[in-house]
Amino acid sequence: MTMGPLPWRDAWERALYADGGFFRTSRPAEHFRTSVHVGAFAGAIAELVRRTDAPLVVDLGAGGGELLAALQPLVGDDVELVGVEVAGRPEALHTSIGWSPALPERVDGLLIANEWLDNIPCDVVELDDAGVVREVLVDPGNGAETLGDAYESSWLNDWWPLQEPGERAEVGDARDAAWADAVSRVNGTAIAIDYGHTRDSRPPFGTLRSYAGGRETEVVPDGSRDITAHVAVDSAAAATGATLIRQRDALRRLGLDGSRPPLELAHSDPSAYVRALATAGEVGELIGGGGLGDFWWLVTDTLGHGTLAT
Ligand SMILES: C[S@@+](CC[C@H](N)C(=O)[O-])C[C@H]1O[C@@H](n2cnc3c(N)ncnc32)[C@H](O)[C@@H]1O
Repeated sequence: MTMGPLPWRDAWERALYADGGFFRTSRPAEHFRTSVHVGAFAGAIAELVRRTDAPLVVDLGAGGGELLAALQPLVGDDVELVGVEVAGRPEALHTSIGWSPALPERVDGLLIANEWLDNIPCDVVELDDAGVVREVLVDPGNGAETLGDAYESSWLNDWWPLQEPGERAEVGDARDAAWADAVSRVNGTAIAIDYGHTRDSRPPFGTLRSYAGGRETEVVPDGSRDITAHVAVDSAAAATGATLIRQRDALRRLGLDGSRPPLELAHSDPSAYVRALATAGEVGELIGGGGLGDFWWLVTDTLGHGTLAT
């Protein structure tokens, strides 16, 4: 059945989350690499669990459960681990790890949402030649776009005012509301981690992107590929009273160190040297500029641990 053009947010929602949608039929790791696929990341989260004495870790948008699977041996049986994910439970997941399609009412502990906000569908808007902000519509079959009705939004005025004809934005209010809802359930620490921009660095033409099979592809909301857009992290932080920190700083504060092991170790304990070298490589990937190190952590600490404070 062919479908006419839809508001981007509707097309995006269907493409990712409807029956047969991208995240219902495939795991993120089949298509792209995130911090949770890098071994050293779980070590930093385990350190956070230890410092905050969290009895529970909830991973929101848990993908294939990679973070929880890596955490499980590090934090021990006393810490409950739960993945919240629209896709079904991964078969190989340790039986002690819980799995649910929805967030619990309360999270007494640590809530982590790695690369979750960028997949929350948004309205997309464009300033037309007459200076009117219009909603962008998209044909789900081929990605062709047209401009729809005039679009009013106080969020745009406050956070991403468009200046010149042709400029575009992804309207972040749905993401702010989603993260505020998640944080409101937390008694402990809530952390969203994502790529994003702040008011002084908004991309003039937006950041809608698609990925599939390890490659960037044409942006088409047909269910065969990821649809993502960078997060307006300053507005999401303001909506939740969160502190914004770059991933490289957060991980260093949690003790990750990307320096190479001393060469003497290669002689005194070659296998320890090889292990340390591999870890240094992983940390380098997690804190590297132009990549994962530039990601933003939105940290809300309802118990005043101050765990990630300088
Ligand atoms: C980009 S993937 C990130 C997966 C994993 N956190 C990682 O870092 O590799 C986003 C995940 O969030 C899930 N997701 C999106 N919205 C969700 C929701 N409201 N509830 C549960 N899972 C959701 C998607 O199904 C997808 O697996």
